[in-house]
Formats: sequence, C-alpha cells, structure tokens
Amino acid sequence: MRLAGRTAVITGGTRGLGRAIAERYLAEGANVVAAARSPYDFKEVLDAHPDRARMEIVDVTSADSLDALMASAQAGFGTVDVVVANAGVSRDGRVEKLPEDHWRDMVDTNLTGTFLTTRAAVPVLRERGGRIINVSSSMATRVAVGAAGYCATKAAIEMFTKVSAIELGRMGILVNALAPGIIDAGMGHALKSNDKAWETYRTRFSLGRAGRAEEVADAAVFLADQGSSYVNGHVLEVNGGLLWA
Ligand SMILES: NC(=O)c1ccc[n+]([C@@H]2O[C@H](COP(=O)([O-])OP(=O)(O)OC[C@H]3O[C@@H](n4cnc5c(N)ncnc54)[C@H](OP(=O)(O)O)[C@@H]3O)[C@@H](O)[C@H]2O)c1
Repeated sequence: MRLAGRTAVITGGTRGLGRAIAERYLAEGANVVAAARSPYDFKEVLDAHPDRARMEIVDVTSADSLDALMASAQAGFGTVDVVVANAGVSRDGRVEKLPEDHWRDMVDTNLTGTFLTTRAAVPVLRERGGRIINVSSSMATRVAVGAAGYCATKAAIEMFTKVSAIELGRMGILVNALAPGIIDAGMGHALKSNDKAWETYRTRFSLGRAGRAEEVADAAVFLADQGSSYVNGHVLEVNGGLLWA
C-alpha cells in the first residue's frame, strides 16, 4: 500500500495506460479520480472501488474544465496529492500532408493540455506538496517518420517538465515525466497488432517485446510515492531498452 491515503487525478485515466495507472494506484491504496471526455467503460473500476474511485468528465484543452476537475477532486477526497497528465492523442501524417486541424489537435491536447493540467494542479498540490507526472513518449527524442506533430509535442512536454520542476520544486511540488516506448495497450496496441509495422520495430527493443501497461504503471507508482522524494525534473524512460537510430 505505497499510496494509502493519497489522492491522484489522472487525465485520460479511463482506458489505455491511464487506466492501468488508475488501477495500480487503487491497488496501492490511493483515492483515484480518472478523467476524460467520455466515461468509456470505467464502470467496472468504479464498482470495484466505490469509496475510492471516481470518474469525471474533463477536456484538457479547456482551463475551466481542468479547474473544475481539481476542485471536484479536492472536494470529494479532501486533498489532491498526485496529478498524472496522461491524456494524449496521436495523428499520423507526413508534414506536407498533415491537416492543420490534426496538428492543432496534438498541440492543444498534448502540449497545451499538459500546461493547463499543471496550472490547474498547482493551487491544490501546493497545500501540502505533491507530484505531477507528465506522460511523454520515446518519440520525444527519436525520429519517427509520419509522426512530426506527435514527436514535437512530446519533446515539448519533456522541456516543459524540466522547467516546471525548477519553478514548482520550491513549492514542494515535484514534476517528472514518464516516456513509454511501444506498449501493448492504448495507442501502442494498434502498432503491436500490425504485423508489418511491428516487424520494423520489434528488433529495436533489447528485450524483444513490447511493454505492458502494468510496467508503465509500476513506474508511475515510483514517481508518486516516497521512493522518489528526491527526484525532480527527470524523464523516466520505460521502453525495455530501445535502440532507435
Ligand atoms: N500506448 C503507448 O504505446 C504509448 C507510448 C508512449 C506514450 N504514450 C502516451 O500515453 C498516454 C496515454 O495513451 P494511450 O496509449 O493510453 O492512449 P489511449 O488509449 O488513446 O488513451 C488516451 C486517453 O486520453 C483521453 N483524452 C484524449 N483527449 C483528451 C482530452 N482532450 N481531454 C481529456 N482526455 C482526453 C482519452 O479519453 P477520451 O477520448 O474519452 O477523452 C483516453 O482516456 C498518451 O499521452 C500517449 O501519448 C502511449
């Protein structure tokens, strides 16, 4: 029970990696508010933890929506201790063809959404210190053809994490990022399930396999619990040892 008595807000917490983090935090004793634009099929988790799990509707591109989310989480559980800025989208397309609205969707959700989540989190986290965990990607630091918008927004999230860590550390808020590789869940599942695409990626992993959502959740527990109390401004890669020229 590494997170007993703590409350976590997880954007994009209804499915994919966010859901795995939500379920793992619940298993570690935390109260969890999973937030996304749609309820998806989160009922099973709510039924399993009626006192400690909640689902809220949020759009991370809206400051008002995020302020309301933090206020609701605080009102419901008394405090907010951990905020995971996990909501993200990926829209493939080479730069000469990528529609402007797809580009804007990635910038608004991934980058502006992370900024707005952080800004909304500060007033509730600074009361007694806390953690912000931003979800980046291996693609923040590696070239992926057809993924310029995704790579660029994730790279920006990593620098945003480092600057935020310095600015917010003095308030007792630690800010770190997780950079998953290809995980067999959420948006990584489609790639893993595409035999042709996966063949080009498979050999790049020293472990020879995609990651599991639970392995990302393990790292998210570390960045939320006491074991990382002197870790600030770090990007933790969870990619099985990735060689990506
Ligand atoms: N899976 C991987 O292999 C992998 C690898 C590296 C990094 N990541 C990162 O991990 C994070 C989670 O991705 P995933 O793979 O789990 O993808 P996913 O299954 O598509 O989940 C994305 C989550 O974000 C939510 N979301 C999207 N736009 C939102 C918005 N504007 N406001 C609120 N919530 C929003 C979605 O819910 P709604 O659509 O209902 O809003 C959903 O819950 C992302 O940041 C992604 O870039 C994933």
